Amino acid sequence: MAKVLVIHGPNLNLLGQRQPDIYGTTTLAEIDRRLVALARAEGAGVDTYQSNHEGAIIDRLHAAQGRYDAIVLNAGALTHYSYSLRDAIAGIPVPVIEVHLSNIHAREAFRISVIAPVVRGQIGGFGVDSYLLGLRAALAIAARASHADPGGSDGAASVTDEPARRTPSGGASPRQRARQRRP
Ligand code: DQA
Repeated sequence: MAKVLVIHGPNLNLLGQRQPDIYGTTTLAEIDRRLVALARAEGAGVDTYQSNHEGAIIDRLHAAQGRYDAIVLNAGALTHYSYSLRDAIAGIPVPVIEVHLSNIHAREAFRISVIAPVVRGQIGGFGVDSYLLGLRAALAIAARASHADPGGSDGAASVTDEPARRTPSGGASPRQRARQRRP
């Protein structure tokens, strides 16, 4: 069964009351409920986590290795300046999908994404649906990974010194597979 971790960053615990003109009126609890319902309908598992603390989120990313097939991340304002978060994402083999309720590119100039270069993709501007689309993308990535390598990689073909790491659903990480394909 594919397992996905959804991480909500700073201030997202205030959803429902926070700038409803931008972020809508749906609470975080309701978003989590809809994510769990979608995962269940797709035969997958999802865990959700919210923190207002950069280090706590980084710890969760590190701990996701070997436990989750993919991560859906709304990093809130950390998106715009956290190189620690960017390095954490780049440092783990678990694919990360960046999501935002609002379209950050249509807002203030400071709302750039410093994590965009190290995530698998970005979904934004669709409100709660950004999360649900992010979860669908995560499940598609997990399905592709287990389809490409249903028994799991034994690492024998690896030309790198990266230790053999398996995704929870059995496949090698996308980065490992890319490296293994190199001559
Ligand atoms: C956000 C966009 C960020 O710019 C902002 O700081 C947030 C929420 C979004 O979901 O639209 O906290 O990530």
